[in-house]
Amino acid sequence: MFSHLPTPTLDSIISLSAAFREDPREQKVDLGIGVYKNSDGVTPIMHAVQQAQDIVVAEQKTKSYVGLAGCEIFNQSMVDLLLTGTSAYDRVATIQTPGASGGLRMFADLIHFAQPDTTVWLTNPSYVNHAPIMQAAGLKVRYYAYFNPQTKTVDTEAMLADLAQAGKQDVVLFHGCCHNPTGADMDFAAWQAVTALAVKNGFTPFVDAAYLGFGDSYEQDAQGLRYMANQVDEMLLTVSCSKNFGLYRERTGAAMVIGKNAHDVANAKGKLLNLARASYTMPPDHGAALVRTVLHDDKLTAIWKQELSEMQQRLLSLRQTLCKELRNKYNTSQFDFIEQHKGMFTVLGLTPAQMTRLREEFAIYGVTDGRINIAGLTEKDIPYVAESIIKVS
Ligand code: LMR
Repeated sequence: MFSHLPTPTLDSIISLSAAFREDPREQKVDLGIGVYKNSDGVTPIMHAVQQAQDIVVAEQKTKSYVGLAGCEIFNQSMVDLLLTGTSAYDRVATIQTPGASGGLRMFADLIHFAQPDTTVWLTNPSYVNHAPIMQAAGLKVRYYAYFNPQTKTVDTEAMLADLAQAGKQDVVLFHGCCHNPTGADMDFAAWQAVTALAVKNGFTPFVDAAYLGFGDSYEQDAQGLRYMANQVDEMLLTVSCSKNFGLYRERTGAAMVIGKNAHDVANAKGKLLNLARASYTMPPDHGAALVRTVLHDDKLTAIWKQELSEMQQRLLSLRQTLCKELRNKYNTSQFDFIEQHKGMFTVLGLTPAQMTRLREEFAIYGVTDGRINIAGLTEKDIPYVAESIIKVS
């Protein structure tokens, strides 16, 4: 049964983490997978989450099943956090999912069930797992112009020209904020323009929001997707708590279907529950219990917001320090764009061969497509990383 299987191609991000762990060199820097580290190089449990965990452990009386949709209190918390004040608030149905990746897959299956001929349009480039997830559900994938490698910014004109071809049979996937892998985000005018196109031409927007709070602030980062949710009849929204609650391994996320009315979204949710039942059945509860506890306690919510803001500020400061090091020590403005990018990631503009040299010669692990995780840097790594970037470029 298995002897004819071809050698598998491993995901470029996950395989990098394994290679990093096995690298025996003492001076090594992991700028691969999107994980936040503090100045000691540790991915901490956030204080608000730790306190919530103490409460959950003390108060939880059972480990019995929760339900196919996960915890409905958590689901409503996600809706409250993201969609309060929009017209979508009363026409949304939500399921808790194993991370946002689980939500992406559930939505891919839902799209395939509702409209099997759908093409899903992705930003060029996009998160490495977007295409595999969509294709695994049998959907076609097409890329639209997004990132201009020369200016290192979003090419809004080219994006709008490509998306003008998307119609009723199409789903267009947008990154809520902190674009993965480039770090280049649409401005609010671009959100307005793509929303107007969705309304005019009838494509369904699908927003993947994994990094809310890491760009400017939670509120600012959600501004574009909230505007869109307020304007369009139908929209899909996946949300991750991996990064902004630091819950990576707890696999905590949500998938929200926004529809024309409560009847439509109830049917969509019913189908999602069938799909979940045929897949993982129920999402893990622990992470959702922690998030729900944080968000239902004003004191813990305030601590969480403060910690998230500190992480965002630190990312900004790491970007500035790396830029300054490259600019002042090596007299180059070639990497000034790093400061303008948002969130965890930046595409350096190095070739795959240069990224391989960074890894092989300097033990600096970035993704071969040129992406580095700024949140994986520590202040003390910056001179070495800057020097190595200059040496390979
Ligand atoms: C990343 O892009 O590094 C993260 O979103 C982790 C993942 O699941 O790939």
